Amino acid sequence: MEVVILPGGKPIAALAADAIEALLRRKPDAVLGLATGSSPLPVYEELAQRHERGGLDFSRVRAFTLDEYVGLPAGHPEAYREVIRREFTDRVNISPDNVRGPDGQAADIPAACRTYEDAIRDAGGVDLQLLGLGTDGHIGFNEPGSSLASRTRIKTLIEQTRRDNARFFGSLAEVPHHVLTQGLGTILEARHVILIATGAQKAQAVRDLAEGPVAAICPASVLQLHPHATVLLDEAAASSLRLADFYRHSYDGKPRWQGL
Ligand code: F6R
Repeated sequence: MEVVILPGGKPIAALAADAIEALLRRKPDAVLGLATGSSPLPVYEELAQRHERGGLDFSRVRAFTLDEYVGLPAGHPEAYREVIRREFTDRVNISPDNVRGPDGQAADIPAACRTYEDAIRDAGGVDLQLLGLGTDGHIGFNEPGSSLASRTRIKTLIEQTRRDNARFFGSLAEVPHHVLTQGLGTILEARHVILIATGAQKAQAVRDLAEGPVAAICPASVLQLHPHATVLLDEAAASSLRLADFYRHSYDGKPRWQGL
């Protein structure tokens, strides 16, 4: 796992966008894994600008979202399908047909989850997966206690996550209790994972993920088993790391041609 500590959201977004741009130049039909929530928004903004100003081409890209609320009506502004469309895919030239997410309205949820896993596999797997980090250590909506080998399935949100996400809804009562999420086993199969965490409220989860034991109590710690995981942090999110100076030293001395 590579931990990179940067001065703030903008340099984090630029670095993540650099990795995505390099991937698209090498593989124009790459498969991107997209997260919602606040953390990746500056990356989407940066990519939209690179598309607009520099012609960064997404025409052959395929994308899979990480998760979705169960039961929100089609077109609900907080359904992750809508959020990704509004914040990112409508702003670049990805064909809407090439963007998929778990179907939170399916009558047969287990079948919808299997279909989603099949679709990711049929696309050749995810080349680069963006992730945020829950204050409780979740990635996707794999809450503490999730199986480290899990696949796409229905999960119940922990109250802390519902409270964290209430800011996007009118009130806590409107935040669904159930979600569909790629499993930790699904996420581990992405070829490169970039997790973004900013703000002091993420500091403990960041420490648990990078320096704690690999354990279901901090689902993100499973990324320690990933062969190519990058963790991009601002100073506040990095403030509890024991090895922060070492991470800075390693990154400062890293040959730039290596990229992320
Ligand atoms: C969203 C997702 C979640 C968020 C996490 C952090 O698709 O998978 O794991 O990444 O809840 O959310 P923010 O970035 O809003 O702090």
